[in-house]
Amino acid sequence: MPNSLGDSFVKDGPWKADLFQGKVAFVTGGAGTICRVQTEALVLLGCKAAIVGRNPEKTLEAAREISKLSPRRDSTENDSVGGDSVLAIHSVDVREIGQLEQAVARTVERFGRIDFVIAGAAGNFIAPFSQLSANAFKSVVSIDLLGSFNTAKACLAELKKNKGAILFVSATFHYYGVPFQSHVGAAKAGVDALSNALAVELGVSGIRSNCIAPGVIEGTEGVSRLTGNVSEEQIRSKIPLQRFGTTRDIAETTVYLFSDAAKYVTGTVHIVDGGMWHLGTHF
Ligand code: HXC
Repeated sequence: MPNSLGDSFVKDGPWKADLFQGKVAFVTGGAGTICRVQTEALVLLGCKAAIVGRNPEKTLEAAREISKLSPRRDSTENDSVGGDSVLAIHSVDVREIGQLEQAVARTVERFGRIDFVIAGAAGNFIAPFSQLSANAFKSVVSIDLLGSFNTAKACLAELKKNKGAILFVSATFHYYGVPFQSHVGAAKAGVDALSNALAVELGVSGIRSNCIAPGVIEGTEGVSRLTGNVSEEQIRSKIPLQRFGTTRDIAETTVYLFSDAAKYVTGTVHIVDGGMWHLGTHF
């Protein structure tokens, strides 16, 4: 499958195979390309995970695929599509906190705890400001920003209990202003601010809060929409490291931020974009 991690992630990578043994992750947007691969990395390293999504088919399929990578995969897959390690929770809209609270309760019922939270659910489209309705702006801000708030809020008791960590999936649009992205830029600026505030406020409870800001990641829906007719060569030439990012690049940073190697790291935005945002480039 494209954009999927293989066994080499553990065999050839820098991480210990049992790094996240006994840990549980709660991931919104886990059926999307980036968050699915973030979840794969955690599961490959021994974590259990609940994937929370709106679309039933996509969420179930992602859970099924990720569970195939699990070192503790149960071959009978008896009581859920994700087998022993991955739980699919679908028909959840992150704009509705009650639905997230139910998803948290199901995760704790199934796996006993939540240690890591990825707030990754996002919605986006290209729209000139002149044609962006107030409702369209509100829809994206509600999914990306309110949805991130709701996710953190619904997981707070578990994060406190387990001295857990939250990772928000942000972007780089708001560092330099990208045309036709006023809605998502505003929302993601809010996500960074939310994460910083939580890092300061919840640090005393042992909770860490960080953001990851992906750049141009190959094979994602967002990038194919944003880049339009611009050639791959033209895009590559605008990236200081001269290549597209990969979902693995995001997964590696995710593992680092949840690992003990980052136990003194909170309130940061980790930009994983090959240095592109320094140029303020857009397509
Ligand atoms: C202009 C649009 C539009 C478009 C929807 N709207 N699509 N306006 N251009 N392409 C307007 C609608 O007309 C409506 O306004 C309002 O937005 C709400 O639309 P709904 O369809 O009712 O909302 P909803 O069902 O909640 O859908 C949310 C969504 C949708 C964000 C609009 O696109 C979505 O669910 N997307 C999820 C999948 C997705 O976007 N994945 C990419 C994530 S990538 P009116 O005024 O008519 O009522 C990512 C990283 C960044 O986020 C990548 C860069 C592209």
